[in-house]
Amino acid sequence: MRVLITPHPLINHKLTALRDEKTDSPTFRRLVDELVTLLAYEATRDIQVEPVVVKTPVAQANGLRLSQPMPIVIPILRAGLGMLEGMTRLLPTAEVGFLGMVRDEDSLQPTVYADRLPKDLTGRDIFVLDPMLATGGSLIAAIELLLERGAQRIIAICLLVSPEGIDTVQDVFDSRKIDLTIVAASMDEKLNEKGFIVPGLGDAGDRLFGVV
Ligand code: PRP
Repeated sequence: MRVLITPHPLINHKLTALRDEKTDSPTFRRLVDELVTLLAYEATRDIQVEPVVVKTPVAQANGLRLSQPMPIVIPILRAGLGMLEGMTRLLPTAEVGFLGMVRDEDSLQPTVYADRLPKDLTGRDIFVLDPMLATGGSLIAAIELLLERGAQRIIAICLLVSPEGIDTVQDVFDSRKIDLTIVAASMDEKLNEKGFIVPGLGDAGDRLFGVV
């Protein structure tokens, strides 16, 4: 498993505004959207491509295009939905699958409440979107489900991750030689006793879409 924390002044600038409790929902949504596009640049660095020749007005040019089957982008509902447009702007031909997961506030255990994913994910680049990797439970459950459908290459794009969550994901998948990359804007300090990332940004789903 690879973990890429992307140091970039623009990412830090936008992330700082996102963390600020005074940032309102419309601004929060816009910042999430912009951050994803910046992170997606890094996350797609090894996307599968194939050679192609095109004719320019002057001569033939050797180029590249995205390979078939097309990549698939999977936002984890709810909060991941806020990242979808920023990602598909960069990858407009990608397909989109949806996975609804919610974490119990006391036990912190995730459950799946919506699954609109292809039955077979073999050979595809899979981009999972979820702003927060806290205990890691939701991402682990999502990845297990993707592996059951033949996923071989998974790139998770998060805004914030906790060191504890990354360790847990690593413990679960490292011995299984899964091709997994986690790209994030920041590895924060820690998890608190309620399973929130510290300093974090609060509950991303609530800040994007309001309290359930
Ligand atoms: C949040 C977040 C992740 C998950 C992270 O979702 O968006 O999906 O918790 O926590 P974990 O790493 O400890 O599993 P939440 O369950 O609050 O649902 P929401 O997106 O609908 O707000």
